[in-house]
Amino acid sequence: MKKIFVYIGSRVGRESSTFNYVSEILNRTIGLVGKENIKIDLYTANSSKINNCTGCIRCFMNGECPQDKIDDMKVIKEKLLDADFVIFASPVYFHNVTGDMKIFIDRISYWSHLMTLSGKAGVAIATSTGNGLDLTTGYIHKVMSYMGIKVVGQFGVVPYEGNEECIKSLENCSSIISEYLTGKKIESDSALELIFKANKNSVELQSSLETCEYNYWKESGLIECNSFAEVLSMKANK
Ligand SMILES: Cc1cc2nc3c(=O)[nH]c(=O)nc-3n(C[C@H](O)[C@H](O)[C@H](O)COP(=O)(O)O)c2cc1C
Repeated sequence: MKKIFVYIGSRVGRESSTFNYVSEILNRTIGLVGKENIKIDLYTANSSKINNCTGCIRCFMNGECPQDKIDDMKVIKEKLLDADFVIFASPVYFHNVTGDMKIFIDRISYWSHLMTLSGKAGVAIATSTGNGLDLTTGYIHKVMSYMGIKVVGQFGVVPYEGNEECIKSLENCSSIISEYLTGKKIESDSALELIFKANKNSVELQSSLETCEYNYWKESGLIECNSFAEVLSMKANK
């Protein structure tokens, strides 16, 4: 059974264009892979309680967020860690992600130092009425890469009825997802290698201090890897 995690940064519920676009992708993916082979954990801004980051920096210092005890992030993080494939999708609000999407990202931003989500593939999705798509999907792509996710598709769409490009992108996205769910190998890329190298350099400087970040790199085996490609093969062999 393969698991897909989805977070959609829209509050519009069932009326949401982003929700409907992603739902269509998921339905097509289910059609390709088989319902019995997929479990989907889908969260939207209106269906989940995610408090603002308070800026206490405890997540970077000791790997814990005090807010996880009082909102839904503990469960959401568990689902995200457990997933094989990740979808982050947001409507475009003034040429970027929505405030809700940004709050969600802020709450896991310490994972960028740990590349916590390495070994997973994912896609970045944005919808708008006409502009801001490249900036928004580019930003989501960057966030995902910093967390170790191999981004295998970036889809910015204007989802009005009869938009051929949008319909084509549904097919394309679901076929990419189904390939990865059915065993396509996750490859490294130059961005992931650069992020890995920068993080490793920084964490090695913390070795004598035995920081929380250094301990994570040691315990997870990341510190032994000389490239992100090695991280991926370590994850694949686990
Ligand atoms: C506050 C706000 C800002 C927006 N900014 C943009 C924008 O910069 N460019 C654009 O093309 N559409 C913009 N839109 C339109 C939405 O991106 C578009 O309708 C989107 O598909 C809505 O997704 P949803 O139905 O999933 O919430 C904006 C909408 C809102 C409410």
